[in-house]
Amino acid sequence: MADLLLGQVIRFDGDPFAQPDVAQVLTEGGVLVDQGRIAAVGQAADLRSRHPQARVHDHGQKLISAGFIDAHVHYPQTAIIASWGKRLIDWLNAYTFPEEMRFADPAYATEIAGRYLDLVLARGTTSVCSYATIHPASVDAIFTAAQTRGMRLFAGKTCMDRNAPEGLRDTAQSAYDDSKRLLEKWHGMDRLSYVITPRFSPTSTPEQLAALGALWREYPDCLMQTHLSEQTDEIAWVQDLFPQSRDYLDTYEAQGLLREGAVYGHAIHLTAREKSRLIEAGASLVHCPTSNTFIGSGLFDMSLAQSLRVGLATDTGGGSNFSMLRTMAAAYEVAQLRGQSLHPSQLWWLATQGSARALRCEDRIGNIAPGMEADLVVIDLASTPAIEQATRRATDLWQQLFPTIMMGDDRAVAEVWLGGRKAEINQTL
Ligand code: GUN
Ligand code: ZN
Repeated sequence: MADLLLGQVIRFDGDPFAQPDVAQVLTEGGVLVDQGRIAAVGQAADLRSRHPQARVHDHGQKLISAGFIDAHVHYPQTAIIASWGKRLIDWLNAYTFPEEMRFADPAYATEIAGRYLDLVLARGTTSVCSYATIHPASVDAIFTAAQTRGMRLFAGKTCMDRNAPEGLRDTAQSAYDDSKRLLEKWHGMDRLSYVITPRFSPTSTPEQLAALGALWREYPDCLMQTHLSEQTDEIAWVQDLFPQSRDYLDTYEAQGLLREGAVYGHAIHLTAREKSRLIEAGASLVHCPTSNTFIGSGLFDMSLAQSLRVGLATDTGGGSNFSMLRTMAAAYEVAQLRGQSLHPSQLWWLATQGSARALRCEDRIGNIAPGMEADLVVIDLASTPAIEQATRRATDLWQQLFPTIMMGDDRAVAEVWLGGRKAEINQTL
């Protein structure tokens, strides 16, 4: 039986960074969901009369949106989120690598994978693109947890063959072999996609990057994810490690790791050459604003969204929060520091269609349109007294929505739908 969700509906007819007024708001709208997909979107009264058999879920003034898509996370860092006092390289050595070692135990990987997905679902995130650890079983754990919950999920084995502790290193050959085996096992199964995942140039030899570049040529429809130009110390280290390279991006480009489908996290301190090559190649960038402030990395240049696919992400656990609402708020604040005021429609788009475009799945998820997969979030725009009082004088949806973007948390998430089914969310998480 079809389901009809009624409320205020937000959807996009284009990219609000390219043209204004592409966001559409239906104040008395509805979304018809059938067999896992969105069957229709329109006025509530119209949909009610045309589909009298549908089961009605009336959400009143609540906002019905595509679910949030978190385009860059490390699910194995769930337990070390909000670790104090370090910048990137020290933070990796002090907190991240010791925690990632624990994923040698598949039972621990399974426990954290399930906990992580329940945490993000309770915050309205319906898809993520995650790094696992170097352990193949950590990839099995996150894909199995996503499959059980019916989530569309992107993930891959993190590859590192140098500058990481014993126990967290593979080799060029084993990274290739393990990645290929996992890719063949999971890619395209249900709603799962394998992502080729060299961690970043400092922890991969040129031989490992080349092996993963070769693998990517064999499976060209996969995504490839890595980190790029996050901190200035890291960039100086890359220069020492790769003296022949023109710049950080060149360490990837030289090994076949730059083209459409490449997804680079952070990308803050880019040179003019790097920007123009990224644009020419049609690569994607992911903005991780809570991480970039928390680890002290820098302020992403949002004007890049005019010429590149840019997604939004928490970067759990370098980021300081699991919530994409908090992440939108941080993106707003970072842009303010660079003299740009992002419109609420741009923030909302980044967390839905923007991330979907960065992951090249915008025809399936991240918007409300007939034929798209029914991953939805229902948002209470008056979820706390503090937010409610800030919306009282609102004269349009954007004024009504902005206090939730800036101050909202898991209490704002009333309902989540995954592939046309209402998800069980655990709001005690
Ligand atoms: N660069 C390489 N690995 C990582 C990581 O785990 N988190 C962040 N924020 N940056 C990285
Ligand atoms: Zn990262």
